[in-house]
Amino acid sequence: MKPPLANDRFLRACRGEPVDATPVWFMRQAGRYMAEYRAIRKHHTLLEICKSAKLAAEVTLQPVDRLGVDAAILFADILLPLEPLGVGLEFVHGDGPTLQRPITCAADVERLPAFSVETELGYVAESVRTIVAALAGRVPLIGFAGGPFTMASYLIENGHSKNFVATKRFMTEEPAAWDRLMRALVDVTVAYLRMQIAAGADAVQLFDSWVGALAPADYRRFVQPHAHAILAPLVETGVPVVHFGTQTGAMLRDLRDAGGTVIGVDWRIDLGRAFDELGRGVAVQGNLDPVALLGPRATLEESVRGVLAAAHGRTGHVFNVGHGILPETPVEAVAAVVELVHAETAS
Ligand code: CP3
Repeated sequence: MKPPLANDRFLRACRGEPVDATPVWFMRQAGRYMAEYRAIRKHHTLLEICKSAKLAAEVTLQPVDRLGVDAAILFADILLPLEPLGVGLEFVHGDGPTLQRPITCAADVERLPAFSVETELGYVAESVRTIVAALAGRVPLIGFAGGPFTMASYLIENGHSKNFVATKRFMTEEPAAWDRLMRALVDVTVAYLRMQIAAGADAVQLFDSWVGALAPADYRRFVQPHAHAILAPLVETGVPVVHFGTQTGAMLRDLRDAGGTVIGVDWRIDLGRAFDELGRGVAVQGNLDPVALLGPRATLEESVRGVLAAAHGRTGHVFNVGHGILPETPVEAVAAVVELVHAETAS
C-alpha cells in the first residue's frame, strides 16, 4: 500500500486545481551540481546508480532533503531503453552517451529486437518501488521516458546534435523505416511508463527535449501521431502526464494536441504567452532559464518573480527550469528559488 501524500500540490497544479502555494521542482534536480551526488558518483558509474534501487533511491531523495522541492523525479536516464535495443549504449566519462551500433539505414531498424520491458528494464520498477517507500508520502514521485523524436535522434545521430541533419534526412528519405522506428519506440515507451506507474509513480514526464528542432509541419507529419500514441494511453491511466520539449514556442498547440495533462516549456517564450496559446484544459510547467541560477541573486530573484507574475491569477502552474539544471549551478541558489516560489505564492 502506498502511503497518502503529505504534499500533493504538484499533482493538484497538474490537474489545474487550486493550490496552497505554487509547486516547484527542477529537471535534473539530482546530479553533479550537488556534492552529495558527486560523492556517490565517485564510486559508481551512472549506469550502476540507475541499476541499483538503493543508490537510485538515495540520489532521488537528495534534492528532496536538501531543497524542499514539491516532487521527486526518478533517478534514471532517458537512454536506458536503448540498452535492450542492442545498440551498444555507453556513457563515456565526460563525453556523454555513445552507441556502438547507431541506426544508419532502414535495415538497422529491422534488426532492432522486440524485448520485454518487465524483464529488461524491471530494475527501474524496482527503483520506483524503493523510492516510493523511502519518500513515505512526503512528495509525489515523477517517472519519465524520452519522447519519440529525441530518442530517435540519439539512435541516429549517435549523441547530441546541433542541426539533427541525419535524423531529419532519415525521416524524409526513409519514411517507412522512420514509421517503423517510431512505432517500436511507441510500444517500448508506453510499456515502460505503464510499468513505472504500476510500480507507484504518481505522474510521468515525456522528455521530447529536442523536438523544437523540427518545422511545425514536419512535427505534425512525422512525430505528432506517435507522440499521441504514447500520451493518450498514459493520460487514460489517470496520473498527470507532463509533455516537455525545448524551443517549442512556435508549435505549442501541436504539442498540446499530441497530448499531456501539462505542457512543459523553456524560457524562450514568455510564460504568459504560453498559457494564452495553450488555453484552458492543460497546465503549464516552466520556465526559468537555468543559467539565471548562475547569476547574481538579485537578478535571479527578479527572473523568478517574472515567471510567477506571468502565471499570476491562473491555475495550473508548475514552477520549473526551462531545461535541466547545469552542473556548475550553486546549490544555494536552487534552494533559494524553492523558498522564494513558496513565499511569493503562499495563500
Ligand atoms: O534529476 C533528474 O532530472 C533525474 C535524472 C535524469 C538524468 N537524465 C540523469 C543523468 C533525467 C530526467 C535525465 C533525462 C535525460 N537524459 C535527457 C532529457 C532531459 C534533457 O536534458 O533534455 C537527455 C537528453 C538525457 C541523455 C543524457 N544523459 C545525456 C545527453 C547525458 C550526458 C550529458 C550530461 O549531462 O552529462 C546524460 C548523462 C546523465 N543523465 C547525467 C545524469 C545525472 C550526468 C551523468 C554523470 O553523473 O556523469
